[in-house]
Amino acid sequence: MVLVRILLIVFAVLSTNTQSMADTIAVIGTGRMGAAVGPRFAEAGHTIIYGTRDSSSEKVKVLLERTPGAIAVSQSEAVQAADIVLLALPWFATEEFVKASGPWAGKLVLDMVNASKMGDDGLLEIAVETSAGELIQSWMPDATVVKAFNTVSYHIIADPEIAQNLVTIPLASDSGEAKEKAAALIRSIGMVPFDAGPLRFARALEHMSTLHMVPYLQDRWEDAYEFYFVTGTAPKGATAVRLAK
Ligand SMILES: NC(=O)c1ccc[n+]([C@@H]2O[C@H](COP(=O)([O-])OP(=O)(O)OC[C@H]3O[C@@H](n4cnc5c(N)ncnc54)[C@H](OP(=O)(O)O)[C@@H]3O)[C@@H](O)[C@H]2O)c1
Repeated sequence: MVLVRILLIVFAVLSTNTQSMADTIAVIGTGRMGAAVGPRFAEAGHTIIYGTRDSSSEKVKVLLERTPGAIAVSQSEAVQAADIVLLALPWFATEEFVKASGPWAGKLVLDMVNASKMGDDGLLEIAVETSAGELIQSWMPDATVVKAFNTVSYHIIADPEIAQNLVTIPLASDSGEAKEKAAALIRSIGMVPFDAGPLRFARALEHMSTLHMVPYLQDRWEDAYEFYFVTGTAPKGATAVRLAK
């Protein structure tokens, strides 16, 4: 059984990665986000290996039908089969998963997890003092974490035309090289990457997500929006920032 699973993984990786620019991406979690991003990356030519708690579930079968060339294995098998790992898990499950699924050395980890909880006023608040991104990086020091996709709704990833294809994906990481790789992946599915700075800015990105949820949680669905950054707006001729005294 184990041998069959290993052969399946090797076959999936070899058969798709003969295309140029194609990557193998482990998508961990087959909920709303995993099921949105996996098919999009597969359509762009990447090989998807879903990591799921139950690869024989009806939900996963349907997802595999929608994801050309993909396979589904256990969460830790998926991590070990790919150099790029996309975390699409609930915050409460993330620490246990990370600690049980190494080794993580050398992997590029795209973290879309929001460490949020419901506040007393019915709106979200951040459940940690720093950010999910920084905590995840601390649990896998030999990997490189890039905060990505946490500010965009699952249904917009599945169909960016709903947002007129104007969707910015801010990225935060301490590695410029990892951000460039993440940016290329984001462009491959027609979205606009934005370098939002080092990983400590995952805090800001996770707060963007609490902001993003306000219209939904106040039942103002007609006000739902997506983030799109209009760039090229610096003052003419200015080349340095002057802080207020
Ligand atoms: N929904 C959005 O629009 C959105 C937008 C931005 C960011 N995010 C963030 O993205 C992450 C995923 O959100 P989602 O909406 O896709 O969540 P979801 O629909 O609840 O899916 C999460 C998936 O994680 C796996 N999972 C659930 N409990 C688990 C456990 N105890 N241990 C291990 N795996 C478990 C399951 O996949 P399997 O059944 O395959 O194991 C589940 O389908 C969250 O951190 C969220 O904050 C969501």
